[in-house]
Amino acid sequence: MNFDLTQEQVMIKNMVRDFADAEIAPRAEHVDRTGEFPFDTFMKMGELGMLGLPISEEYGGAGADTISYALAVEEVGRACGSHGLSYAAAVSLGVSPFYYFGTEEQKQKWLVPLAEGKILGAFGLTEPNAGSDASGTQTTAVLEGDEWVINGSKCFITNVSYAGVCIVTAVTDRSKGSKGISAFIVPTDTPGFSTSTPYDKLGLKGSNTAEIILDNVRVPRENLIGTENEGFKQFMVTLDGGRISIGALSVGIAQAAYEASLKYAKERVQFGQSISKFQMIQQKLADMATNIELARTAVHKAAFLKDQGRPFTKEGAMAKLFASEICMRACDQAIQIHGGYGYMKEYPVERYFRDAKLMEIGEGTSEVQRIVIARQIGC
Ligand code: CAA
Repeated sequence: MNFDLTQEQVMIKNMVRDFADAEIAPRAEHVDRTGEFPFDTFMKMGELGMLGLPISEEYGGAGADTISYALAVEEVGRACGSHGLSYAAAVSLGVSPFYYFGTEEQKQKWLVPLAEGKILGAFGLTEPNAGSDASGTQTTAVLEGDEWVINGSKCFITNVSYAGVCIVTAVTDRSKGSKGISAFIVPTDTPGFSTSTPYDKLGLKGSNTAEIILDNVRVPRENLIGTENEGFKQFMVTLDGGRISIGALSVGIAQAAYEASLKYAKERVQFGQSISKFQMIQQKLADMATNIELARTAVHKAAFLKDQGRPFTKEGAMAKLFASEICMRACDQAIQIHGGYGYMKEYPVERYFRDAKLMEIGEGTSEVQRIVIARQIGC
């Protein structure tokens, strides 16, 4: 067993850290305060090859492995949770389904510009009545001649107001339950496709999230992804990969909270000495450092298995579950270490705390991860 990163992985991590320190971290407070989506940063990420990082070069990607992608998400998330979530969703949900399930023609038409960062993609799965119960999809798609006619709505969709294309799931055979759902490619300029005003959220305010309204949206027959009625399994596979990235993002946010806390604890003097000298503060910092290390290792193990083409559903869910929960805990303790200052906007830890909460909800709640793990261990 070798825990060392390869030269290429180190190079990618350093490249993304430099970019994130220079271009992302300085904007983190601004995008949180204003809710502005930093579209221009995403175009720069595209130029650097970040939006197609784990996609093969043949389709416009950088041909890197999943561990490198996890490192990139962690570094972006360490600089800014909002950029981190939009980055993870853009690649894992917006680009990957084309790579996994698209026909050669769909790959040439959509995957290449997505991986090259020319356009952003979004993934429309969740609905007002189909959240954790993803099989409860109500949006429908009916074949009329050579066109699919899609009607329904989607909620909580990351990046969709800025996306050029969106994958939408819809019921194609109501009698078959989860085996009657299919996935469709919908260019966002298709008549009948519209998005709501972006949500006002607790955290991750600079990451765009909106509803989708699908009103008699017509797409050509060939916009079906893969095989009809295979949509549920397709998005479960997509979410397996996405969970690695949310694990990595959780590690990044926790790392930022830890670094800010360590710095503050060394600088802050109370009772005549730096508070980092007090055992109660040391215990908090030691717990944070330990949990972050373990979470990062779990994320990399799941990524490693994915890269080997081996099953990773259980490990991906475990990594996401553990990383998101230690992230929330680390951000909570970061505020505690900062005391009253931690509760104020002038320090970044209150933002980390707000951003962290979504890690336990998005791409499958902690409760869903426990269901997945319980089934995987044979409960
Ligand atoms: N890979 C491949 N196939 C899988 C699979 C996986 N990981 N998980 C399940 N399947 C297959 C099963 O084998 C089964 O097929 P068979 O009947 O042929 O064996 C089929 O899919 C149905 O599986 P289940 O019976 O397990 O399905 P379920 O209805 O009980 O649901 C669940 C299980 C785990 C709760 C699932 O619904 C789930 O993951 N829910 C959470 C959804 C989620 O994460 N949503 C967030 C999306 S993010 C978003 O939308 C917003 C955004 O923009 C970011």
